[in-house]
Amino acid sequence: MSTTADAATRGTVEIRRDGDVAVLTLARPAKLNALSTYLENELLGALRSAEVRAARAVVVTGAGRAFSAGADVTELPAMTPEAIDAYYRGSGAVYEAVADLPQPTVAAVAGYCLGGGFELALACDLRVADPGAVFGLPEIGLGILPGSGGVHRLVRAAGPALARDLILRGRRMEASEAFRRGLLTEVTEPGRQVDRAVEIATELAVAPALAVATAKQLIDGAAEASRETGLLLERLAYAALNRTGPT
Ligand code: COA
Repeated sequence: MSTTADAATRGTVEIRRDGDVAVLTLARPAKLNALSTYLENELLGALRSAEVRAARAVVVTGAGRAFSAGADVTELPAMTPEAIDAYYRGSGAVYEAVADLPQPTVAAVAGYCLGGGFELALACDLRVADPGAVFGLPEIGLGILPGSGGVHRLVRAAGPALARDLILRGRRMEASEAFRRGLLTEVTEPGRQVDRAVEIATELAVAPALAVATAKQLIDGAAEASRETGLLLERLAYAALNRTGPT
């Protein structure tokens, strides 16, 4: 169902529109879409692009045989504490920028979804995957750990037991297990992950934008809040939204 109308290419990240949905494709397939500083900066640029700002929902996917094999390991040796601090102020902010998008986001995963790739998928609201997708957080083997929100989001999404299992052992998990663990909305038919993500995003795109943006923030806030504060946030958000209408 995808069209290539309004396609725009920015090197390692491609943007296209499919109706009201913006589809962002990590496009560095020769390196399994490894998340270099350059690619992350391009992804930041894509998130701020007119195509994405005008879209009502966003799909994130990867070209070739990986969603992403994670951080570009060739950049790791240069990562002094100062460089890491600068990184989080620069391209490393992209994971939170994805999570903070007002529009609903769907990750369409096939192949390797490792390290920062898994963290990027976790930063999306929903995830669908090809049956052959493989998820994992191999950082421990490199003497580091997931540092782009992956620990926090995995604990929130699937609980500390699975987070310990994946992060401490660095083991890989197939799509069927990721679905069982609640990390995937669907395992699609083989090769249909992008089409299915666009279908789901198109459904989401008709929901009133302000209500969706508010609900996204409320869901994040609720995970951090006491029952009393959670209920208060809900009531305040409801009062603010009531009569804003279905736009
Ligand atoms: N960073 C930089 N380059 C990467 C990469 C990464 N995270 N993952 C893969 N690549 C590159 C490889 O160096 C190779 O490049 P080359 O063809 O120029 O040599 C290319 O992508 C293909 O990878 P290759 O290892 O040949 O594919 P494979 O099918 O044999 O193995 C993986 C696939 C994902 C198992 C393996 O590439 C891997 O373990 N990657 C690193 C994963 C990782 O540790 N990520 C977390 C980093 S914190």
